[in-house]
Amino acid sequence: MKTIDELLAEGVTGKRVFVRADLNVPLSGTTITDDGRIRAVQPTVEKLAAGGARVIVASHLGRPKGAPDPAFSLAPAAARLGELIGADVAFATDTVGESARATVAALTDGKVAVIENLRFNPGETSKDDAERGAFADQLAELADVYVGDGFGAVHRKHASVFDLPARLPHAAGDLIATEVGVLKKLTEDVARPYAVVLGGSKVSDKLGVIDHLLERADRILIGGGMAYTFLKAQGHEVGSSLLQEDQIPAVLEYLKRAEEKGVEFVLPVDVVVSEQFPDLKTKAPSRHTTVPADAIPAGVMGLDNGPETNKLYASKLADAVTVFWNGPMGVFEHPDYAEGTRAVAQALVDSEGFSVVGGGDSAAAVRILGFDENAFGHISTGGGASLEYLEGKTLPGLAALED
Ligand code: 3PG
Repeated sequence: MKTIDELLAEGVTGKRVFVRADLNVPLSGTTITDDGRIRAVQPTVEKLAAGGARVIVASHLGRPKGAPDPAFSLAPAAARLGELIGADVAFATDTVGESARATVAALTDGKVAVIENLRFNPGETSKDDAERGAFADQLAELADVYVGDGFGAVHRKHASVFDLPARLPHAAGDLIATEVGVLKKLTEDVARPYAVVLGGSKVSDKLGVIDHLLERADRILIGGGMAYTFLKAQGHEVGSSLLQEDQIPAVLEYLKRAEEKGVEFVLPVDVVVSEQFPDLKTKAPSRHTTVPADAIPAGVMGLDNGPETNKLYASKLADAVTVFWNGPMGVFEHPDYAEGTRAVAQALVDSEGFSVVGGGDSAAAVRILGFDENAFGHISTGGGASLEYLEGKTLPGLAALED
């Protein structure tokens, strides 16, 4: 993979450089609630601009249906990028149309533009190689060089991630280089004990990574919505908690394999439950109580790890030399159900080991809960991407930058 410094050494002055970023930030209306992903690509954009390139930043945001949708506009992200780099950032209101062409043509050396959400064009995410390729051809006309730096999207075989680098000279941005460097530490010669905390709502999203980790990790701590499928598999009632009944056979197999391999599987011992899902908009206090994880009454749902679980998980992380965490432990967006996620984040901060926070929700949680980002070894910008890397899959966006 060519690095950005090698690209700069060759000279980028006056060249139109297409930077595929991941500016898929959480929004409340047009307000960005966590700008971590924009800050993560900032060094690459600044380096290229300082080198005299005409920088075209492109990204997806959310999952619009292949047509323009104002709710998913990248305009707020473009404005934020401008604030961060302290310079005007032009904004094209389409992807490969008149606005994009005019905006790019008007760029002068060292200036930056953002083009509109790539997923407003159906070619971006198409499963049809020809349709994706046709969109990549149009994008290629905008630029002379491609820089891949949207780590959060490298697991997607999308036009701007996979097909476009094949059409232009390309290099990897600093963010991708850093992310891959960290993930290598988790896959090659990992320092032990290696503990992994997995949360989030669905077990089905984590099957591949659990499978992989059973061969590598020393401890796997489970929390969040997916914990209830594990508890149910162990024969406990889980009330109206999130449950993926169809995943119970897979979970049972994992528990059996963990025992055979001597991997410690840790499940919640108590959970915070409520009759209703809390209102995340008003964040109004909601009625809740803590119950043992093996005695969840009917009619209530588990929404967070309880205090005993928090202590247990902290103790399991205290002596870990390497920790990877993906997925919140509860509905952290609501103050009544944030303690489990906060406790894991705190345990990582307190640990002297190398801690990696993997991904969208857990990375946002760390910042939203007010933790100092520098207290962690690394906060990844890619949830799905880092999980797929750990699974050992070939990631299209990294493979495309290889040659
Ligand atoms: C993410 O948020 O994980 C990335 O931006 C990828 O988004 P996607 O899951 O919609 O492809």
